[in-house]
Amino acid sequence: MSNPIQAIRGMNDQLPDDLTCWQYLEQVASVVFKQFGYYEIRIPVVEKTELFARSIGQVTDIVEKEMYTFQDRNGDQLSLRPEATAGVVRAMLQHGLLHNAIQRVWYAGPMFRHERPQKGRYRQFHQIGVEAYGMAEADLDVEVISMTSQLWRKLGLTGVKLEINTLGSPESRVEYRDALVKYFQANRDSLDADSLRRLESNPLRILDSKDKAVIELNRVAPDIFDYLDSASREHFERVRLLLERLGIGYIRNPNLVRGLDYYSHTVFEWKTDKLGAQNAICGGGRYDGLVEKLGGRPTPAAGFAIGVERLIELLRIEQRCQNRERTDIYIVQTSESALEMGLSLAMKIRDVGISVISNIGSTGFKSQLKKADRSGAQLALIIGENELQTNSVTVKQLDSGKQFSVSTEKLLTEISSFLEQAE
Ligand code: HAM
Repeated sequence: MSNPIQAIRGMNDQLPDDLTCWQYLEQVASVVFKQFGYYEIRIPVVEKTELFARSIGQVTDIVEKEMYTFQDRNGDQLSLRPEATAGVVRAMLQHGLLHNAIQRVWYAGPMFRHERPQKGRYRQFHQIGVEAYGMAEADLDVEVISMTSQLWRKLGLTGVKLEINTLGSPESRVEYRDALVKYFQANRDSLDADSLRRLESNPLRILDSKDKAVIELNRVAPDIFDYLDSASREHFERVRLLLERLGIGYIRNPNLVRGLDYYSHTVFEWKTDKLGAQNAICGGGRYDGLVEKLGGRPTPAAGFAIGVERLIELLRIEQRCQNRERTDIYIVQTSESALEMGLSLAMKIRDVGISVISNIGSTGFKSQLKKADRSGAQLALIIGENELQTNSVTVKQLDSGKQFSVSTEKLLTEISSFLEQAE
């Protein structure tokens, strides 16, 4: 036997037991999004590399070193999507959905980043996110934040904390950038290699550094708030006011700058202290310039994406995931004619919404019952020669071992009421 092939590092299988919690999360999220008037959109996993370079930014970690980029057989430069915001804007533009219309959409699916895999950080991971277009008011920033807040509440999550910041308008950021560069240049000696590189290319990202000395420097770095023009300041003040009115607690983190270049004004992250280093379960913000940058008319926009693996882990820790639902019934049939009766009964039972596994293979009664036990089903329906002759079925409760006989006419009512009581 040759060695079995393994999955790629950082790309995980989601096994049936894991998926109960995933499906629960997806279901609750889709209900919350619908309640806010958002509709689902599905976009391809592969896009032209240029789309991501133009939107996320050339000098970001994602575009510089994390994208899965390749040339296809036509020689086109393509990438697996590292996130979905760029692709959603591309799709909305391509289908003319942004002209004179307010749009609210949500999506879910796999994203790909070639990061160093560790707990909570994977190379294929999943996001659930929303994007909204055509509303410049701070009310939209608060709408998307309140969607997440509502989702945490519905999921019964506690202990997630909201951090917000503003990146102001592009104009106010120019002045701020200059002040930051001056400050960091005066403290060059404390900067690590990565921050020195960023000093030239993307100085705001130094604020996000994990280096100890740089963290110290960042504590007293210039604050963007002091460089905001009055419109940007008013926008941020309104976000804060509305959050307070809604009772959504937050802290302002002046060093929150996000790892993607398309943001302006409000940015936010939800963090938890229960997941170790990868503590952000959701990130987002406003990105008013992106639609224009990708060839559309200026269109204000905001959104967020939740990291599904991290949120699932948190749900597990807080014991908010349900167990896998059991299959209702396993049919044991001990002869060819019993099999025929069993198959047709199984169809009728499924028609009324009850789940049924029909035994396949071994005909021995004992081995079939063993399989029924192992399947996790609640009831076994046993059809043997006796049952065929009396037009009945033996119903066995697999947990207690109790069994009784039911005529085939009464079978549906009997098992329905048993399963209802068992719920
Ligand atoms: P992001 O902060 O890059 O934003 O990703 C959002 C969330 O995805 C993170 O908070 C984290 O939970 C999860 N995540 C990111 N990378 C990984 C990884 N390697 N492994 C596991 N989870 C990960 C965006 O992607 C923006 N598109 C969000 C957005 C939407 N902004 C506006 N609209």
